Amino acid sequence: MTVYGVTGATGHLGTFVITGLLAAGVEPGDIVAVARSSSKARDLIDRGVTVRIADYETPEALADAFAGVERLVMISGSEVGARAQQHANVVDAAVAAGVGLIAYTSLLNADTSKINLAEEHRFTEKYIKDSGIDHIFLRNGWYSENYAGSYAGAVQSGTLYGCAGEGKIAPASRENYALAAAIAVTKPEPGRIYELAGSEHLTLTDVAKAFTDVAKSTGENVGEISYVDLGFNGYHDALAKAQVPEPLRTFLPDWDAGIERGDLDSDSRDLQDLLGTESTPFEQTLAKEV
Ligand SMILES: NC(=O)c1ccc[n+]([C@@H]2O[C@H](COP(=O)([O-])OP(=O)(O)OC[C@H]3O[C@@H](n4cnc5c(N)ncnc54)[C@H](OP(=O)(O)O)[C@@H]3O)[C@@H](O)[C@H]2O)c1
Repeated sequence: MTVYGVTGATGHLGTFVITGLLAAGVEPGDIVAVARSSSKARDLIDRGVTVRIADYETPEALADAFAGVERLVMISGSEVGARAQQHANVVDAAVAAGVGLIAYTSLLNADTSKINLAEEHRFTEKYIKDSGIDHIFLRNGWYSENYAGSYAGAVQSGTLYGCAGEGKIAPASRENYALAAAIAVTKPEPGRIYELAGSEHLTLTDVAKAFTDVAKSTGENVGEISYVDLGFNGYHDALAKAQVPEPLRTFLPDWDAGIERGDLDSDSRDLQDLLGTESTPFEQTLAKEV
């Protein structure tokens, strides 16, 4: 029996990872869910999973939480800019607690990607390697769910704005990435780097078409939603005009520029090989989210 730990266990991805571990036959009692708040972890407790409370900012609590854990799914934090130190804390605590292997959820093409999010992932991968602990890196591509937030505005205006040109994403659902993580950590190949990309390669024109199809399928009275490329500065100005708050106003053009460069696309089949199937179609995930 192997004891698995999962950080970020009350988040979207973490919840699916735990579901994936249970589906892979891991006993609930062999799963330690590390969460910031016990109130959010009620459902996990009901499922028989052990819940321990620790924040990425509190190294001692993390080390206590990892006691007895043999393989840890380390889910990257959500506070962009604070994550280098937070992730270092998690790794140090895992080493101190004698964890045998870390499976870290990184970013697709983390070693070469120039999007702003990549730097903290590169730092974390190096920190894990330098710690000497066995590891696997799960470099997740874009979540299909990322586009759910743009859907309502695009349906209303008939336009999806951006600055990704003809660049492509290879999105998959959070559930796809999480199940792949659960499978990879139950059959670990230490040192392995998985480039996890979805089966479809979509431009933002394709995303706008998916918006149209989903809107029509739900009976909305819409025409064709079109993608309009505003260029980097134009998109930034449009977001400012629409009073999109920082840091999103800065991040969104940066991410689209990354899409145009190909940072969020890959022909890797690692995700499909782990899942034993194609990734969930973008449109299907979108329809569930909106
Ligand atoms: N590839 C992509 O498209 C993409 C998109 C968005 C995010 N991400 C990355 O993937 C991660 C997981 O995604 P998700 O959808 O599951 O995000 P999420 O629902 O926001 O979950 C993030 C999890 O991290 C936990 N967390 C954040 N800061 C923490 C801290 N200081 N100490 C302890 N726990 C902390 C959160 O705890 P609480 O439950 O208490 O909030 C939550 O459980 C994100 O955190 C981010 O790094 C990737």
